[in-house]
Amino acid sequence: MADQDAQSPVGSEPAALPVLRWDEPPEGPVLVLLDQTRLPAEEAELACTDVPALVEAIQTLAVRGAPLLGIAGAYGVALAAARGYDVAEAAGLLEQARPTAVNLGYGVRRASGAYWAAVDKGAGPERAAAVALDEARALHREDAVASGHMARFGLALLNELLPGGGHRLLTHCNTGALVSGGEGTAFAVALGAHRAGRLRRLWVDETRPLLQGARLTAYEAARNGMPYSLLTDNAAGSLFAAGEVDAVLIGADRIAADGSVANKVGSYPLAVLAKYHHVPFIVVAPTTTVDLHTADGAAITVEQRPAREVTEVTPPRSRGDGRGAGGVPMAPVGTPAYNPAFDITPPELVTAIVTEEGVISPVTGVGLAELCARSSQV
Ligand code: MRU
Repeated sequence: MADQDAQSPVGSEPAALPVLRWDEPPEGPVLVLLDQTRLPAEEAELACTDVPALVEAIQTLAVRGAPLLGIAGAYGVALAAARGYDVAEAAGLLEQARPTAVNLGYGVRRASGAYWAAVDKGAGPERAAAVALDEARALHREDAVASGHMARFGLALLNELLPGGGHRLLTHCNTGALVSGGEGTAFAVALGAHRAGRLRRLWVDETRPLLQGARLTAYEAARNGMPYSLLTDNAAGSLFAAGEVDAVLIGADRIAADGSVANKVGSYPLAVLAKYHHVPFIVVAPTTTVDLHTADGAAITVEQRPAREVTEVTPPRSRGDGRGAGGVPMAPVGTPAYNPAFDITPPELVTAIVTEEGVISPVTGVGLAELCARSSQV
């Protein structure tokens, strides 16, 4: 088993990742993304000057992860408005770019709602575009604040559930600064544990097929000097059996009204393993990821991805063409594949949901609705 034991002293945090920024060069406004398809090989920027380019960046996962999709969607509306495109059409394209993460539609609706409210009050196109941009910036800032609160609530919960000793935490997919205005969701809790000197090991699931764990979470863990080890997704069972996992921490793309959690495919098997081995299974997500209009897990649309993501292996560097061309075949040409991007974990397998408004445990629809009511009161 390959270990990565480097630890940075507390207080020597790395520079913030340039995940997403708004820029206004003389040629016109642009949304600049850190192209996540190229990590960890290179930190390359991807400049989106129009909404179709941003939609492609979303679909190819150059920008990804529920909270960041919301932020990107909001800036996308601002981009369309600032460049004089049809804002209603842009909002529709953005909202439909990926179906599962509820944050995408939330961000798009927030910025376009602000835009149309300004228009209704008589604002001209420039003023209304500025209002949409302000709304995107507000969402960006709010997500950073929410991330900090989730980290604190999550760490307190871990310390309560796991008194004494260092924590060995298993995580799946990528939930750090790469998906957030702040330091992320589940990863931010693990980072908090590391800074508090309580992280013994972060177990990082590689997260087939697009390797968000191997490429992105390992990259963030290394940047932060955390003690981490990478494992193939199917090694998790024997890791639990060996008693090496104290808690599972994951994010979410959509949490239905009954507490069912949609997250990166492979989360549900971890929840089953955690239940069998009596290990807490903790979901960390902002209240913007809760969708009280979706009754339960069966009502969540799970994105299906192309077969080639399973039948080919594509090195990160060659994903820069935006479509992942240049993959090495791992199966006979034309092999069909089952490739859902997410799976659904039922509430009875979730020990707790941590949000910026607090923690619910056990997970019930009533508890979830109360948390959301709290967040809409502020
Ligand atoms: O397909 P992705 O990479 O966008 O999937 C991301 C995830 O599943 C994350 O776990 C989820 O968005 C939570 S991120 C805070």
